[in-house]
Amino acid sequence: MNLLVTGGAGFIGSSYVRLARRQRPDALVVNVDALTYAGNLENLRDLEGDSKHLFVRADIRDGAKMLELLRTHAIDAIVHFAAESHVDRSILSAEPFLDTNVVGTLRLLEAARAAGVRRFLQVSTDEVYGSLGPEGAFEETTPVSPRSPYSASKTAADHFVMAFHHTHGMDTVITRCSNNYGPFQFPEKLIPLMILNAFEGKPLPVYGDGLYVRDWIHVEDHCEAVDLVLERGTTGEVYNVGAENERPNMDVVRTILRLTGRDESLIRHVPDRPGHDRRYAMNARKVREQLGWRPRHNFDQGLADTVAWYRANPAWADRIRSGAYRDYYETQYASRLAAT
Ligand code: NAD
Ligand code: TYD
Repeated sequence: MNLLVTGGAGFIGSSYVRLARRQRPDALVVNVDALTYAGNLENLRDLEGDSKHLFVRADIRDGAKMLELLRTHAIDAIVHFAAESHVDRSILSAEPFLDTNVVGTLRLLEAARAAGVRRFLQVSTDEVYGSLGPEGAFEETTPVSPRSPYSASKTAADHFVMAFHHTHGMDTVITRCSNNYGPFQFPEKLIPLMILNAFEGKPLPVYGDGLYVRDWIHVEDHCEAVDLVLERGTTGEVYNVGAENERPNMDVVRTILRLTGRDESLIRHVPDRPGHDRRYAMNARKVREQLGWRPRHNFDQGLADTVAWYRANPAWADRIRSGAYRDYYETQYASRLAAT
């Protein structure tokens, strides 16, 4: 099965490309990525010299290019990770989210349909379901109720995927996963941002009271679920993915402080994210029971390994943080930190 993976130079996509090459030694993986601020070829360094991994720098909104790649490489299936992925950036500017996540997904669907691609897997998120109170978990049947520009754009993309299934008979599947952590995550997201700040003894900016809850999963467990759904998921279905590992942000931050040998004086409660979703929790019974998926990583060990990875790879983070990231950090945090 020849695959076209989009966003394969990002955090989760690069982990998936590695998995796909391990699982299918004879199949080609065409990795399409525009290399935005979040795309990084260093994430794929261990695949250098692999003749079955073909990296193509291209934008998913370029429908003609997508069609050419699908035809030239006789692609059987698309695994679609490419996206603008950060909620805080979607609050600063929503337009890129509409462009890539909605228009980009639509262009890719059209190209897939024209090329007769056998299966289209849309990588989506639990955030499409909105925010939970203290009890319960999202199920596949929970009505979507997105509340941030990011989740609105992912929901719209999911709707287009379902529309192509129902209208054009395309074989589509959707995975919706909870918050990922692990190596190579861009340091705008909670866990790598806090790890890198703690290494340097910089303040850790916790939004609001820090009692917001996320359901954490190791990136490799997510990728294994995606691959199972690709192989064995039922057409037209949605599969929730999560590792039943809910933590308030303060717990995660305190654990990172312990793992990095820092004390709690670094914590700063800064002005909250607007529209901040209070709690996410996933019911992943369907993917577990129907497809036999199980997460392999325990959170405490996984987080300790992640801290160790960032410690062992300072050059990776330094290169990111020497560029446009500085401006982003300033815009996002300077006035918040000044307010504390
Ligand atoms: P990321 O930001 O690390 O990577 C996104 C990748 O997409 C980058 O390599 C970027 O260059 C590429 N890209 C962006 N716009 C593009 C375009 N127009 N054309 C081609 N490539 C483009 O994101 P991530 O955290 O790895 O997330 C990957 C996917 O998983 C996204 O669809 C996201 O919504 C979904 N997801 C993420 C999480 C999470 O916790 N990070 C959880 C559930 C679902
Ligand atoms: P994030 O990693 O941005 O993922 P998402 O918003 O998609 O869940 O944030 C995870 C949680 O951490 C969320 O409740 C917001 C919070 N957070 C902070 O408190 N401070 C920060 O600097 C960041 C980036 C996130």
